[in-house]
Amino acid sequence: MCGIVAYVGARPALPLLVEGLRRLEYRGYDSAGLAIAEGGTLAVHKRKGKVRELESTLPAQVPGSVGVAHTRWATHGEPSDLNAHPHTDAAGRIGVVHNGIIENAAELRRRLEGEGVVFRSQTDTEVLAHLIGRRPESSLVEAVCAALALVKGAYGLAVIDADRPGAIIAARNGGPVVIGVGDDEMFVASDAVALMGHARSVAHLDDGEVAEVRADGFTVMTLEGAETFKALQALEGDAGGLDKGDFSHFMRKEIAEQPEAVRRTLLGRLDHRFQTAHLGGIELAAREMLDIRRVKILGCGSAFYAGVVGAHLIEQLARIPAQAEPAAEFRYRNPVVEQDTLYVAVSQSGETFDTLAAIQEVKRKGGRVLGVINAIGSTIARECGRGVYLHAGPEVAVVSTKTFTSTVVAFCLLALQLGRVRDLSSAHGQRLLAGLSLLPDQIQSIVDREAELAPIAARLAASEHAYFLGRTVSHAIAMEGALKLKEISYLHAEAYAASELKHGPLALITPHTPVLIVAPDDDLLAKNRSTIAEVRTRQGPVLAVTQDGVDLEDVEASFAVPRCEPELAPLLLNIPLQLLAYQVASALGRDIDQPRNLAKSVTVE
Ligand code: G6P
Repeated sequence: MCGIVAYVGARPALPLLVEGLRRLEYRGYDSAGLAIAEGGTLAVHKRKGKVRELESTLPAQVPGSVGVAHTRWATHGEPSDLNAHPHTDAAGRIGVVHNGIIENAAELRRRLEGEGVVFRSQTDTEVLAHLIGRRPESSLVEAVCAALALVKGAYGLAVIDADRPGAIIAARNGGPVVIGVGDDEMFVASDAVALMGHARSVAHLDDGEVAEVRADGFTVMTLEGAETFKALQALEGDAGGLDKGDFSHFMRKEIAEQPEAVRRTLLGRLDHRFQTAHLGGIELAAREMLDIRRVKILGCGSAFYAGVVGAHLIEQLARIPAQAEPAAEFRYRNPVVEQDTLYVAVSQSGETFDTLAAIQEVKRKGGRVLGVINAIGSTIARECGRGVYLHAGPEVAVVSTKTFTSTVVAFCLLALQLGRVRDLSSAHGQRLLAGLSLLPDQIQSIVDREAELAPIAARLAASEHAYFLGRTVSHAIAMEGALKLKEISYLHAEAYAASELKHGPLALITPHTPVLIVAPDDDLLAKNRSTIAEVRTRQGPVLAVTQDGVDLEDVEASFAVPRCEPELAPLLLNIPLQLLAYQVASALGRDIDQPRNLAKSVTVE
């Protein structure tokens, strides 16, 4: 949700800022801008639209080696050139980029207008620029701290001053900020992804901290001025992963990366000696695992749906009652937090505000939380302190594909480990380990058969509404499949438990409403056959995703995934649904990697 990147060093800032913006565009893409300080002036370029629109208006060179840049997901003020960041003070010396919401902006704005300040934008951020600009006699860090003392709300921000160009001031309260350390140059960003290939190591700011970042080092302090120590973490990862390569979209690349992502999630975690999984980061001794009476999984969007699959796996394999709930719903209903419940927070980015707030609510009430997270060192990873990293690599497309799959794989491992300290037999454990090891090749075989999905995709693309059905865990896959389709194709796709069809949605079935049923070869196959018959009786076209060896009658088109251990079937059944969403969105000419109104990392409430 809004990306910020800033540079101070000896190199020209412009290309580094533009590269950083491109990498952060997943966070918001309704406008973009940058400001570079040089010779006592601030050159500001900003533009409504995507980063490439900004690039098309930039001069070939902008002199200066200190700058801030921003890509926006609008909250206050419609997307426009004027509302794009950076915002400046009246003198145009201070440049501010901000991710978050200043809650008392209206009140501060009225006060400043009363003092004669003329505002140029409708944004909450401009308030900050004017407040900072009122203190030209203090150091920039003092001016920023004084301004922030007046502000209520959430922010991650970076500030530069044309008159004091030696440093970037960064501050954090609710919006992620990392400081990147290079060779005689330093960076600030809202995600370390922007710094890969440039910074050697990173330090993460915590809420309430302010940093003065100079080319030769940085100092971090609290808003009250007490210096704090920051540990540096090596910045690992391959900047090549941020490139689309030969793929037309990041989403399609990330679908193709799933075999490798799964291998990495499994790496070093399969314990063949004791037929179990070994997740060291959860820091739970066998006795503590035995004491768990309930598991509660929290997340948003696809992370929530992955959690629904995870809850099913834990309940089936470990026989511990488990349930997933949307993180925001959980936090707002004054939940009962139990000592013997294990809370698990799921987040690809590790920055989703609602998930973070739910974790804080659990911790405040004395509960313990594990994270299942992709982004190393992210806010949620640090808040949980223990858990499972997916190691799926950076995911750039707004919709999650490989991290959904890796999250479900991580839950298989957790369920196996919890199950093996309870009643799951060594033989069952051994079968699951063998099944998990086969997954990468099986996923590859599905991706290689993408062309076979064309008839299903064509039927969906030609319809305004589609229904996705499944039973028990396949219902979760139907929900994720429908979400994927609506996110990127903008078609109305609705998921229901197949058992619920006759309790309402059947009224909607017509020859124009395709029904996609997720029907693996399990105990419920006969029930799914009845569901297909119910839909066909109402002339609804039926499409199916099933498993090899299943023969479904009266289905217009179907796709079968390889047979596997029954518990792992959801992982394979989901892959064709990803490819279908991709194909439908391609056929409709949608902006697949950056769908309208969405952002990858929702760091506001
Ligand atoms: C946003 C994205 C979704 C994502 C959700 C949770 O809504 O558009 O694709 O599933 O956030 O993100 P997280 O980073 O917490 O997994």
